[in-house]
Amino acid sequence: MRIVLLGPPGAGKGTQCKRIVERYKTAHLSSGDILRQERAEGSELGEKARSYMDSGALVPDAIIIEMMVKAIAKCGEKGFLLDGFPRTVVQAEELDRALERIGAGIDLVLNLQVPDEMVARRLTGRRSCPKCGAVYHIETMPPKTDEICDNDGAELVQRPDDRTEVVQNRLKTYHDQTAPLIDYYGRKGLVHDVDGSRSADEVSNLIFERLDALCCC
Ligand code: AP5
Ligand code: MG
Repeated sequence: MRIVLLGPPGAGKGTQCKRIVERYKTAHLSSGDILRQERAEGSELGEKARSYMDSGALVPDAIIIEMMVKAIAKCGEKGFLLDGFPRTVVQAEELDRALERIGAGIDLVLNLQVPDEMVARRLTGRRSCPKCGAVYHIETMPPKTDEICDNDGAELVQRPDDRTEVVQNRLKTYHDQTAPLIDYYGRKGLVHDVDGSRSADEVSNLIFERLDALCCC
């Protein structure tokens, strides 16, 4: 399966990807997670990305494309689930070219639809575990003990780009630069819309229904 997950910031892409990976054992490639890992390691790439990410802007296409094409190449035949990439039409065109070179293509684009007001609430309430990467929400998916990770007891942290002022910029960036991808992939007949405003379990069921059908054909 070669799947792209599209959706605004906070749509639940990361949350759903974890569940899809568990069920279908596919590789999860999150451009945001890879960038945060590079930053944590203090790499040159991570340093270059820092100011863009913290202001809610996109990291330049050339940097992202090189990083993601390398990650995709490592997946080989077993496919992948792309989360946060592509995010511009230029990135999508480059992805198509890279896949064409190996005689492959995208099978399906899941488009998680969530209104802007809900995105803002989800992001400002998000907390993550710096150790294992688990993601919580202080209201909708709280940990058993406030601010503590259920898996490893680490203190949860807030992403620097989840502050209210940055969230508004990320939403604008999404509408200006990423939403056009819905048309880009729509013209290829690949888009499946999913109501991302429902509970996480309901959203998973909608996605599994579609992916089960894809796996069986
Ligand atoms: P990235 O990390 O990709 O962030 P994003 O796309 O803005 O998306 P998020 O990770 O914030 O949200 P999500 O959809 O994964 O939601 P989640 O499941 O966590 O990118 C960060 C930055 O990196 C970018 O701004 C950019 O600078 C750079 N970057 C990355 N890729 C790039 C690219 N291709 N090109 C250029 N730059 C790039 O859920 C959010 C919250 O909601 C959580 O608290 C969760 O518990 C809760 N929640 C989830 N689902 C539900 C539900 N159904 N009901 C209730 N609560 C829910
Ligand atoms: Mg995410």
